[in-house]
Amino acid sequence: MCGIMGFYGISEEESAGLVVLKGLQNLEYRGYDSSGIAYYNSLNNKIESIKRSGKLANLSKEILCGNPLKSGIAIGHIRWATHGKPTNENAHPHLDCTGNIAIVHNGIIENYIKLKGRLLKNGHKFITDTDSEVIAHLIEDYILQGFSFSESVRRSALEMKGSFAVAILYAPEKRVAAVKYGPPLVLAQKGGNLYFASDISPLLEYTGEVIYLKNSEIAYFNDGVLDILSFGGKKVKKKVAKINWDASKVAKSGFSHFMQKEIYEQPSCILDAFSSRIVFENNIGDNKSSKIVSIDKNKNIAQQLAAKKFKVALEDLRLTKKDVESAQRIVFVACGSSYYASLISGYIIESLCGLPAIVHYGSEFRYGSFPVKNTDIVVGISQSGETADTNSALELALAKKAKVVSICNVPGSQITAISNKGVIYTHAGPEIGVASTKAFTSQILCGLLLALFIRQYNGFLPLGYDPSVLFKDIVELPQKIEKILLEGEKIRDVAKKYYKSPNFLYLGRGILYPIALEGALKLKEISYIHAEGYPAGEMKHGPIAIIDENMPVMFLLSNNLLSSKTVSNIEEIKARDGIIITISDYEPDIEGISDAIKIPETSLFLSPILYAVPLQLFAYHIALLKGTDIDQPRNLAKSVTVE
Ligand code: AGP
Repeated sequence: MCGIMGFYGISEEESAGLVVLKGLQNLEYRGYDSSGIAYYNSLNNKIESIKRSGKLANLSKEILCGNPLKSGIAIGHIRWATHGKPTNENAHPHLDCTGNIAIVHNGIIENYIKLKGRLLKNGHKFITDTDSEVIAHLIEDYILQGFSFSESVRRSALEMKGSFAVAILYAPEKRVAAVKYGPPLVLAQKGGNLYFASDISPLLEYTGEVIYLKNSEIAYFNDGVLDILSFGGKKVKKKVAKINWDASKVAKSGFSHFMQKEIYEQPSCILDAFSSRIVFENNIGDNKSSKIVSIDKNKNIAQQLAAKKFKVALEDLRLTKKDVESAQRIVFVACGSSYYASLISGYIIESLCGLPAIVHYGSEFRYGSFPVKNTDIVVGISQSGETADTNSALELALAKKAKVVSICNVPGSQITAISNKGVIYTHAGPEIGVASTKAFTSQILCGLLLALFIRQYNGFLPLGYDPSVLFKDIVELPQKIEKILLEGEKIRDVAKKYYKSPNFLYLGRGILYPIALEGALKLKEISYIHAEGYPAGEMKHGPIAIIDENMPVMFLLSNNLLSSKTVSNIEEIKARDGIIITISDYEPDIEGISDAIKIPETSLFLSPILYAVPLQLFAYHIALLKGTDIDQPRNLAKSVTVE
């Protein structure tokens, strides 16, 4: 949702406009409806800007045909409209009255009406319907009062309320500034040049070393010198973080869509999520001192697991034995697919740790009256780490002295800064497709790792729990996902039969119920087909009324879970002429199934991961047949940074 890219090159050999344009292309996945670039023109010491509504291609056409953007400094933006329609005019960058200051902004300036009123009285002219334009005039106003550029930026930052990541280009002094209060901003320096962006994906091709701005920090850059100051005006020393994502991860690498590529990356993502986190029991100590052992994939896994007792060590988690022992419940907050991963994690926590798990939508939690206690472990799950509703809910929990942990995919993101008890990184690599796939399945695995970690300290002994079977199944999971991916064509054939259907119902029970929700969400998001997920047992309490011969019903059927109950639900649908499609880990003895997709068996707690994969492929192929914009579906944004 909105994205900023900026470049300050110390020579003009490299066209800053083109660097920024390329960066914006890498940010497209965040979701947007207009875009723009402002660059410094050294011939007249002025700022030139180009803004276009619609896809980035509209802007790049303009730039590549008419305007080479010969310049060493540029800032660019993709906008997801909040205040004002997605027109050329409302697109960022916005200029002040003199045209000396250009700004781009992510977030919302909540007190913009008040600020605008004052600035109008001072004679400033506004030309857009946005809240963001006020920033350029506010800085201009302070400069007119005689303050330096940096002091004007600082005073403006202190005055603005809401959430903002802002990049500012100031032509008279050839300077740029970047302000963070809420949405992320990442800086990178290479060969004297400065690159900055809303996330690391556009920076990866230049360097793997970045600096994350923290809230209430401002970066100033001019002629190769970077200074970072707090809103209080104090110089801040920053650490350089190393990123181990490589640039190829943000390319399609031969796949037609990022979503397709990300579905096929899941075996390696799952491997990355667990491989360094399974350790010998006698090395476990207090997390940090653990010796990490990798399981040798080429040797007999069962033998390796049997020979030693394995445990889970989570490198960035700071939950202590005392924290776990005093925890009376685990509370999850998340949105969208991450909420469904939370439902699954909650189920696993209750089963494996014997602790009550409560799962809330971030948007409901933050305005609800949930009584948070200091004995709660509150877990935020988020791919992006930028979801405003989830982060605000966690801030609230933090204020009530809860222990906050996150499961997140993006290093250095906002959620990781909020989490006082650390992070479990999903290690899925950049997820570019708006519809979450690999991050979702990695979240489930990390939820399980968290449950195993907690269980190590709280000593709960679940009935019939055999750790060696579970660990073996974890290790075998990547191969089992591979097996499902090899069925891609079969799933495409099923999709071909049903892609014209206007409605779908997805049904599952227990740990597979959230997967029914996720399957329906995937289909809605990328094919725009109405689909509903429901607990199979609840169907007869209402949804059964919509069943007729035109309604395809996707059943998630597992041999190790309430199978006879789900089979009865299938019979109920058949009796009403509904079309039955099954995904199952066994051959069910039922007549009248229209299409059956078979997947490998695994442990109950891992089964959601395997059931999710064919549903992702099913949604993907339906969307492909319908010709929708799979990676950037209409109206959606990858990071939902506003309420
Ligand atoms: C998933 O396909 C969605 N695009 C969406 O529901 C997403 O999961 C949700 O917006 C939460 O995002 P997060 O994981 O980055 O917090």
